[in-house]
This record gives sequence, structure tokens and C-alpha cells, in this order.
Amino acid sequence: MTISERLRPDASYLLGIDVGTTGAKALLIDRAGQVVTSATAEYPMFTPRPLWTEQHPADWWVAMARSIRQVLAETGIEPAQVAGIGLTGQMHGLVLLDVHGEVLRPCIMWNDQRTTAQCAAITREVGAGNVLRLTGNPVLPGFTAPKLVWVREHEPEVYDQAAKVLLPKDYVRYRLTGGYFSEVSDASGTSLFDVGQRRWSDEMLKAVGVPRSWLPEVTESPVVSARVSRLAAGEIGLLAGTPVVGGGGDQAAQAVGTGIVAEGAVSVTIGTSGVVFAASEAYRVESQGRLHAFCHVVPGMWHLMGVMLSAGGSFRWYRDALGDLERLQARDEGLDPYDLLVEAAAQVAPGCEGLLFLPYLTGERTPYPDPSARGVFFGLTLRHGKAHLTRAVLEGVSYGLRDSLELMRGLGLSIEQVRASGGGVRSPLWRQILADVFEVEITTVAVTEGAAYGAALLAAVGAGLYGSVPEACQAAIQVSGSTQPGPAATVYADYYPRYRALYPALAPQFEALEQVVSSQP
Ligand code: XUL
Repeated sequence: MTISERLRPDASYLLGIDVGTTGAKALLIDRAGQVVTSATAEYPMFTPRPLWTEQHPADWWVAMARSIRQVLAETGIEPAQVAGIGLTGQMHGLVLLDVHGEVLRPCIMWNDQRTTAQCAAITREVGAGNVLRLTGNPVLPGFTAPKLVWVREHEPEVYDQAAKVLLPKDYVRYRLTGGYFSEVSDASGTSLFDVGQRRWSDEMLKAVGVPRSWLPEVTESPVVSARVSRLAAGEIGLLAGTPVVGGGGDQAAQAVGTGIVAEGAVSVTIGTSGVVFAASEAYRVESQGRLHAFCHVVPGMWHLMGVMLSAGGSFRWYRDALGDLERLQARDEGLDPYDLLVEAAAQVAPGCEGLLFLPYLTGERTPYPDPSARGVFFGLTLRHGKAHLTRAVLEGVSYGLRDSLELMRGLGLSIEQVRASGGGVRSPLWRQILADVFEVEITTVAVTEGAAYGAALLAAVGAGLYGSVPEACQAAIQVSGSTQPGPAATVYADYYPRYRALYPALAPQFEALEQVVSSQP
């Protein structure tokens, strides 16, 4: 269908905006939840030192304005036809503003690792058990509060001018509307939010020494919190007064876009990282904080999340390190090297005759928060060839994702179906391996526009087109495929405990190896 066939001149449309890690995407949907078009404008990420990652908030704004103008120009949709805007984006980033609303320093991003010492200090001050009780999560280097402490310690002249703290998408909302607002899902990743009570935690604010007045007001996610200002309207080509809903952190918004809005619904997203996301009717906290426990964008619901750092990233590394032949063949025949690798792996018996792969190529987050963990092929024999290695990578990532599912099952969540999305699940073989390793049905959905789609659906709820988030998902999201567990499930059931036994056995060796590596000149 062309764009013009998807348009109805008298209808209203919704805009989803994703302030992502690499660019800002604007996605336009109609009131039935059908995608009309999208546009993305990129911006750079800076690494002023190893482990540091920063971005300029002004770049987000410029890129977002460009994407919005592009989707409006491409479709000819009138600004008055935009019934609402939903914002989503990278979570946890620290944007500091002065009393005039000017940005004080570049945003310290979600994947910045500079705050190990500050995390330890906050945890010591408050007590690990109290941190988990107050915020549902341990204080992690990616989260916002330790970044604030870092700025206080290392850039006191900046900290002294601070008057407001915003998360990335909420900074864009500020530019769009002039209002200081956040919403419950994104606020959950700050270490300053009482996730159970869905409000800022006075105890954490006091312990970290941050004035309450610095923080934005928090709403539920589908609620209209602000409206496009006259100033911004001129810059981006929308009407002043257009409603802007709370929106959501990227993972929670993405979950809306795949329909993970009821207890028992679980999704797995295989991009570079692998995210296992479960919607929960109750506030559940894993006893050691190994799963993130955050508010969902569905009012009255929470979500649990496990994050594997190298999922699709493991397969990409494998292609780059060992897939030269396939790359050449693919180039000559106009194919995708991944497809050639997977085709050969499909010929190998499930379980790879005892070859196991640990996917900890960039350390790990769930279930082992261990930056020293490394990738491993375990169980090699003379019988193993390249196709075995390939299949072992796909199986190893799948076992690692099952680790998060097991933590969720341990909290009493019943998992009846797993919805898969992201580049990795394009492969039918990988979908079958996931179904067999998880021992549940794997489904896929028709629209794969990610977090921006969920944000647009939240805007549809805020604009009153749907009564609730689940109602919007029910109307808009279609299941497009299903893979049932097959006979290989019993093979994987035998191998999974062997996989699980490897990390505890190797953990001391990972640490010892790290010490040797870091002592080398
Ligand atoms: C969530 C997380 C990422 C970032 C960037 O906890 O760290 O999803 O939001 O995508």
C-alpha cells in the first residue's frame, strides 16, 4: 500500500517519537493503529573517555524536529489532524538544567559505566536491602542517581548551578511543551523512585542529597501531561495545544507495541542485546535484584525485565570473526551471510553433540551482573565443525535468555507464550530453538516498529480514541506467526542444566583472567 492509500483526509493521526541511542524516530499511525510512515534522523554519541558515553540534548531536539517535519511533508497530513503525541526513548540518562532551563552539560547516557564507585557509596549509605525495598532494584552504573553524585563530586561548578534533572525523552517534552514532567516507567530507572508506590522516594532523595524540587512531576504513562507550546509549534510544524502523553521508557513502550500488557504475557527482543520483558499485575521484586522491577506504562501494572548484553551481538561477532567465507559467497550471490550460516547450522542435531556456548562477550547483566564474564565454547571435540559452532551460538544465547525466564517463573509468573521481536527472530531456525529451549509457544507480530509504535498507541489512549492501553493493543496488534516447541525440547532440557553449571564454575576464573589482562602493559 502506498502512503496516499493509507491516508484518509478527514481522519486523525497519532505521532510516536523515539529518542533512541542512535537517532530520533517519528512514526505516524492512524486511529486504527495502522502505520502510515516513519522517519529517523541520526545524531552522534561521544565517548570522551573509555566507558563514558554522552550526547548533546540539543541534537535530540534538532533530529526530532527534522523527523516530524519529514513525516508530515511525506504524507501531507495537516498539523490539525495530529490528535496526540507519545514520547519514548533511551532510559536512565542524566540531563541537568539550570534555573533558566538551559542544559548544563552533555547527557550522561544509559550505557555509561563511570559510576561504579558512586553506586557502591549509595548502596553503603542506604544499605543494599533498603535500596531494594525502596526502589525495587539495586543501584546500577547505568541508572540516574549515581550520575548525579558523580557530577557533584567531579564537576561541582556544574552541580552548583543545577535546578532540574530530566530523562532524555522528558527533556524533549520540555522543549516541546515547556513543562517539566516524567512518567512512571522511565522514573523507575533512576534509583530515586519508589516503584511499588509509583512516586519519588523521599528516603532515596534524602540519602542521595537531591532536592525534590529538581525532579519533574510524574504521571501515569497514557495521561496527557502537557501540550505543544506556541514556541515549539513554529519550530516543528505542529499546532500549539497538541496533547503530549507521558509516554514510556523504550522497553516498556516497545512492550506495548508487541502487546505485552497482561499478566502472563512475555516478550523476548533479540537486537544487539537480548531483553526478556514480562508484564505483571503485582509489584514483584526478585530477592537479589537480578531482574529489573519497573512500573509498566499500563496504569496499575509493573514489569520485570532481564537484559542479556550480547544476544544478536554474539551472532554478529561470530559472523565478523568466522564468517568470511559466507560474506564472500553472500556478496557474489546477493544473499545475506547470516542466512548462509543459519542454513548450515540447521543441518546440525540440536544440542550440537555436547558443544555449549556462553554468550558473555561484553560481560553480562542478567542473571550475572559481571563485567569480567567472557564468552566460552565448551565441549569441543574433533567431530565439531563450523556449523556446530554456529548452532552453538544460537543455542547459547537462547539458554541465556531462558535464565531470565526462570527468574520470572521463580517469582510466580506463569509464562504461557513468548512474543519474539528484533533482528534475531527473523530466522525460523532461531525461533524454533527459542520455542524448544523455553518449552513455550513463540509468536511474532505484524508491525515491527519498536518503541515508537507503542508510544503512538499510548498517545491514542491519551487522545481518548481507546479506553485503555490493553484495549488499544487488542484493536491494533495482530499476531503474524507461531512456532510450537518440537521434539528437540527434550534434548535441550538435558543440556540446559549443563549450560547453567558453567558460569558458577568459571566465575572465579573470569575474575582471575581479568586481573592478568589488566596487569599487562
Ligand atoms: C533499559 C536500558 C535500555 C536503554 C537504551 O534498562 O538500559 O533499554 O533504555 O535502549
